[in-house]
Amino acid sequence: MSNQKKLVIHGGTPVRTEPFPSWPRSTGEMRESLVHTLEHEKWGVGSEAVKRFEDEFAKFHDADFAISTNSGTTALWIALKAAGVKAGDEVIIPAYTFVATASAVLMANAIPVFVDINDVTLNMNPDLIEDAISEKTRVIMPVHIAGNPCHLTLINEIAARHDIAMIEDAAQAHGAEWDGRKVGAFGAGGIFSFQSTKNMSAGEGGIIVSDDEAFIDSCFSYQNAGRVRSGAWYEHRHIGGNFRLSAFPAALLLAQFEMLESDMKVRDQNAAILNEALGKIAGLSVQKRYSETTRVSHHLYILLYDKSAFGDTSREEFIDAVSAEGIPVHTGYKPIYREKLFDLDKEEFPWLKKTDFSTVTLPVTESVSDEQAIWLKQSCLLGSSEDTLDIVRAIEKVTNYFSSV
Ligand SMILES: Cc1ncc(COP(=O)(O)O)c(C=O)c1O
Repeated sequence: MSNQKKLVIHGGTPVRTEPFPSWPRSTGEMRESLVHTLEHEKWGVGSEAVKRFEDEFAKFHDADFAISTNSGTTALWIALKAAGVKAGDEVIIPAYTFVATASAVLMANAIPVFVDINDVTLNMNPDLIEDAISEKTRVIMPVHIAGNPCHLTLINEIAARHDIAMIEDAAQAHGAEWDGRKVGAFGAGGIFSFQSTKNMSAGEGGIIVSDDEAFIDSCFSYQNAGRVRSGAWYEHRHIGGNFRLSAFPAALLLAQFEMLESDMKVRDQNAAILNEALGKIAGLSVQKRYSETTRVSHHLYILLYDKSAFGDTSREEFIDAVSAEGIPVHTGYKPIYREKLFDLDKEEFPWLKKTDFSTVTLPVTESVSDEQAIWLKQSCLLGSSEDTLDIVRAIEKVTNYFSSV
């Protein structure tokens, strides 16, 4: 066997030795924007950059209003509180997501109720939601996983039928679209994250978008020490925190709208190359989108692996082989209900006395997490088409080997 065909794990030559584009990256526009804010504007309360950013982000995401926060997690907590979530209420969420989707529910003293995902879109399965609704359900909170919109029409209809709110966890979905409209404000509201890995990044940060002014006013209160917009500075009506975004991340983010659009084009093109080539490999399939989805953000590129096509080679072994070829692939999330944090002290959370998270089991979530998912991060889609073809070459090289064992 030639050294090119021999896998690196067997002593062969790697397909790629160059790194993929690093993330986050800085630009001249970001530097200018930061320096302008540094030298000419307020840094905190009353920040002009924050106001400009909120207005621009709302407009960009087809929403009437936006309020920024210091993280996606605090944005989730604030949105849940503004939707009226009280101690002991239930919030329906998927378990194939970052832990913050669930921890924000617990931080709001509510009970996460996990619903399984669809096996090809990897989004919360709308067919399973109604069975999970009880008289205590206050919010349905789907996640646009990997930036792939969940079925917003069906989930919104279910929420409306039961008179409960829908909040989108769009932490990964900057620029994603459902039926020609950007995600975020389809229900009561939606949140985004600007943490370092995100497609728009300020190191840390978050935002809530909504078309409902009363909802956004309530978010303002929880974000801002319980103040109300019409009240005095030292008038505090709710238990809120200081979850405000500083002017500097806002200035960084203000300089990213054009870059987001051009990056999205590059990711779309490279994802199309991968879909075309990898979709043809027996034993691999690419994450699917619903027909109403008009754009995905490709925060992650997720492949599903079927070991039966590869002589029962485990996904982990496959991932090790592809990584050794110079392509950084990962297994991704575990079902979040398995995390130690769900073993909660029932004295501290008395409304959870009758809830036992250790009995939760969701077959699709577990199969995807434990055996199938292979992730590439968004920055791997920001190279040239030649860089992207290296991903194809490496995966073909490894699949050719394992499908013949
Ligand atoms: C789906 C999801 N929800 C919530 C969050 C929380 O955002 P942050 O890390 O900004 O608190 C993240 C990101 O980290 C996420 O991916």
